[in-house]
Amino acid sequence: MSEQRDQFSSKIGFILAAAGSAVGIGNLVGFPVAATKNGGGAFLIIYALFVAFICVPVMLAEMGLGRRAQKSPLGSYQALSPDNKGWHIAGLLAVITPFMIAVFYMVITVWIFGYLWHSVTGNLAMLADPEYFGQFVNDYGFVGFLVAVTVIINVILVGGVRKGIEKAAKFLMPALFIMLVLLVIFVLSLDNAALGVEFYLVPDFSKIDGSVINGALAQAFFSLSLGMGILITYGSYFSRRDDIVTSGKLVALTDTAVAFTAGLMTLPAIFAINPNTNPDTLSDSSVSMIFSFFPQIFVALEGVVGYFGASLAATVFFLLTFIAAITSLVSILEVPTAAIIEKAKFSRKKTLLVMGFAVTVLTLIAATSFGFIPAFTEFTSYAGQTKSVFDVIYDVFYDTILPLNGLLICLFVTLHWRKKGLEDELSEGNPNYRNTLLAKYVRISISTFIPLILAVVFINTVLTKFVGFSLF
Ligand code: PFF
Repeated sequence: MSEQRDQFSSKIGFILAAAGSAVGIGNLVGFPVAATKNGGGAFLIIYALFVAFICVPVMLAEMGLGRRAQKSPLGSYQALSPDNKGWHIAGLLAVITPFMIAVFYMVITVWIFGYLWHSVTGNLAMLADPEYFGQFVNDYGFVGFLVAVTVIINVILVGGVRKGIEKAAKFLMPALFIMLVLLVIFVLSLDNAALGVEFYLVPDFSKIDGSVINGALAQAFFSLSLGMGILITYGSYFSRRDDIVTSGKLVALTDTAVAFTAGLMTLPAIFAINPNTNPDTLSDSSVSMIFSFFPQIFVALEGVVGYFGASLAATVFFLLTFIAAITSLVSILEVPTAAIIEKAKFSRKKTLLVMGFAVTVLTLIAATSFGFIPAFTEFTSYAGQTKSVFDVIYDVFYDTILPLNGLLICLFVTLHWRKKGLEDELSEGNPNYRNTLLAKYVRISISTFIPLILAVVFINTVLTKFVGFSLF
């Protein structure tokens, strides 16, 4: 079985593919804005601590579990706990969660593709009209953009791990890094850019409270693609001879470095256009930043670099964000793909057809819940708020289930698979791992305070989102 399983050809192939998953819309927009609003450098320090001390151990556990079982998350939990049906639910959740997250991420990616298209075709001024986004999300044009994005993703996925995912990552990730650096250099050369850097970096510890800390952890967790079954799946494609520990650390480092660098693009651009920006007034929502705020920034650049230059900057930005989103979507859709191939014994092509159909239908439902179809727009209500289908998917799967999935893997490692099992697995390809400080740290943390913290975050999210009461 394991000899037939498609594998990454090398450690670097795995690192680029996993970094492709991790580097997403969250890094380019969500992170920089969250940092600036929530204490600048103070937020950055807390975020970095969360990545190193909470996320890396969970990441290693996910990758180790996948490589040991050589299966999708569904099969991995089952293979390592054949007699315990309770754990199978954790496997099921680790497949349903990415499928549903893929739906809401797909909606945003299709919009990004639409904005990229309009930037390239010279319609930047139209994008910057404050009314435009409302019209755009309710326009039939969505279907055309959806078809294009679906084709791109499936062309990559149908190639499999080595010839599809890895090959695409090896080309797209360096392109992404280059575009990001070029944009940073361009933005930093604008007048008043330094003001943005200052707001981004100077620490203000007075802004740090319970909800900022909770937000930083949620952002770090999401950004590293944890709790989505992705790293279990990618771990199952990772060679036994290669070193998971170093690779995992490099993925975390790359993801954090890209998020940090994106701040040097996003914030200086905002301040270069309006030096009097009050960071508190920036929207918390990445969606409104990308589709309402940024086009206005690009249009304002016209005065400095002309309409062509402004359109070029917008094109590079949307292309960068699109690549980041595509490599994330590929990774997340590989999870249900692997599970269906494994359980239904379908060919890869047939699986992609079935899944592509299901994702497309759900994406259309989520995308028409912004006013187009009233029943989806006012789908339900909880905690005193009316919620659309899109909101429900976001609240349930992104906000609530992700920390629960993280908690479940910690409990699985501690109670069932045993910490020793994880340690043995991580030592393959890294024989000295057992004697390192990191190994000691993972051993202790994964069964004590990491699950505790994730449990508190999970309970607090359930209370805040669905009951309207927050612990902190
Ligand atoms: N790390 C990704 C991001 O920051 O955007 C998280 C992610 C989201 C991965 C959606 C995959 C995905 F489909």
